[in-house]
Amino acid sequence: MSQSTSLPTHVAIIMDGNGRWATNRGRPRFAGHRAGAAAVRRVVEAAPHLGITTLTLFAFSADNWKRPATEVNRLLRLFLGYVRAETATCVERGVRLTVIGRRDRLPPTLVEAVETAEHATAGGRTLHLRLAIDYSARHAIAQAAAAGTLESMEAVDLLIRTGGEKRLSDFLLWESAYAELYFTPVAWPEFSAASLAEALAEYRRRQRRFGGLPGLPGPRDEAAVAS
Ligand code: FPP
Repeated sequence: MSQSTSLPTHVAIIMDGNGRWATNRGRPRFAGHRAGAAAVRRVVEAAPHLGITTLTLFAFSADNWKRPATEVNRLLRLFLGYVRAETATCVERGVRLTVIGRRDRLPPTLVEAVETAEHATAGGRTLHLRLAIDYSARHAIAQAAAAGTLESMEAVDLLIRTGGEKRLSDFLLWESAYAELYFTPVAWPEFSAASLAEALAEYRRRQRRFGGLPGLPGPRDEAAVAS
């Protein structure tokens, strides 16, 4: 990745605002999550056409277990349905689907579906779709430090958060060391291919220096970060 890069290859998204979107429409929070799943499909379809090669989506944080059990269970079922239903489409479109985060606290049915999808889509080269489920960046960093794999964590070029909040919420903290940050008030269920294109246009207006000076290559550009 050069500092004057025109396209972000790794885009990460904190998909926020589902609940508020639904509540504002007098609907139950889960209607927002269901609409959020439709937004995931739209964005995954659009991403390769916009030059994105890796897309990491924050679906469920390690802190989301604090939510009411009914919401947690429905979310986990939504992920299960998504992974099962999308595996064939991913294979067709050359999308490699993987899941990051802890697996030991997930329902076995979801873990099985994830493993099946990861196996079936392993050859996908058009887009690497990574779903973060039961994910905590601090936990992932501690694990990678212990395993000596920190340097192989893939740098994020552009980190998007929808829903109006401006924080990182323990998402990809190591990988986002030099990420460009983009915050939008648009609620995730309303995020579209056009919204993604708009974020990318803003990214292209930014100048990435990686701590260097304009015109000089960033020190961690190629090997260390963009692996
Ligand atoms: C944050 O909105 C969103 C989540 C905790 C869940 C993300 C899940 C989806 C987008 C559903 C579909 C995902 C997949 C991978 C199929 P929030 O509920 O915190 O919204 P709020 O801040 O308005 O309450």
